[in-house]
Amino acid sequence: MFEGIDVRENEVLAPYTTFKLGGPADYLAFPKNVAELQRLLDEATTNRIPIHLLGGGSNLLIHDSGLRGLVVSLEKGFSHLELSLEKNEIRVGAGASFPKLTRRCLELGWEVALGWGGVPGSVGGALKMNAGTRLGEIGEVVLSVEVSTLEGMRVLTQEQMGFAYRSTSFPSGTILCEALLRFPGADPLRKQELLEKARLLALQRKATQPKERSAGSMFKNPPGDYAGRLIESCDLKGLKMGGAAVSSVHANFIVNEGKATAFEILRLSEYVRERVEQKFDIKLEYEVRRWGF
Ligand code: EPU
Repeated sequence: MFEGIDVRENEVLAPYTTFKLGGPADYLAFPKNVAELQRLLDEATTNRIPIHLLGGGSNLLIHDSGLRGLVVSLEKGFSHLELSLEKNEIRVGAGASFPKLTRRCLELGWEVALGWGGVPGSVGGALKMNAGTRLGEIGEVVLSVEVSTLEGMRVLTQEQMGFAYRSTSFPSGTILCEALLRFPGADPLRKQELLEKARLLALQRKATQPKERSAGSMFKNPPGDYAGRLIESCDLKGLKMGGAAVSSVHANFIVNEGKATAFEILRLSEYVRERVEQKFDIKLEYEVRRWGF
């Protein structure tokens, strides 16, 4: 099985996540191209092995005892970035770094990328989550994406992906390989101005978001409100369970103070949800994905 492909058995996943938490996966694979990816999917399906797609690991909490099945990373073979300046388009691999894409777009004078500033992770993860900030989301500029399915490669249009606040409706069982992005008019003369604006936004974020290991915002903002505000109003800032803490800088960040377990992070998050529900009758929805729980 998986012959000739870079597949590691029993690989601990903690280093692949920003929480630095999580046990081993049965298999962790780094396909180099579409052919290898298709073969991984075929063989895993034939052998009834569950498949999980790993992005940049920046929005992910993995169980301390790991998870069964095959974890696929596109980081090694799908990180291309091809520019077509005359068309204002970029073709980008799902395994490419999202911060790198953001920076490249700003350098080219594409203002819309200001809204992506500070968002970590991979392009594939950003697409799947429709990542962004209040200033903009990646879904706005997606023309189409190419996905790998058991029946082969397929192209989906922006409409077929159902971009909404921090969510999409990609058909399940598909793996996002590449996206074609089109930007409204570039202005390379604004490069310096945009980079300066991005720098100021980054400083602002630095002052309002914690430095400890985390997966960013733990919960989505409920319609018309902010998870951070609700959690702070329950007086939970700074609350600890083992090595996990509700950040005292931003209440919607559950942080690993160094020695936390994934279990402690989840237990604390569940407690936060309960308290917010009791006080406000709002059930916070997770933004962070949880594997193996
Ligand atoms: N707030 C509090 N207490 C807190 C934190 C925030 O009362 O402890 C209040 C703030 O005063 C503010 C409001 O909540 O009025 C919103 O806070 P903030 O400006 O920090 O933005 P956010 O909605 O919490 C969103 C994204 C972040 C992104 C920032 C900056 C979500 C769930 N989060 O946070 O994204 O960095 O805007 O644009 O949409 C992520 O998704 O992982 C992430 C970090």
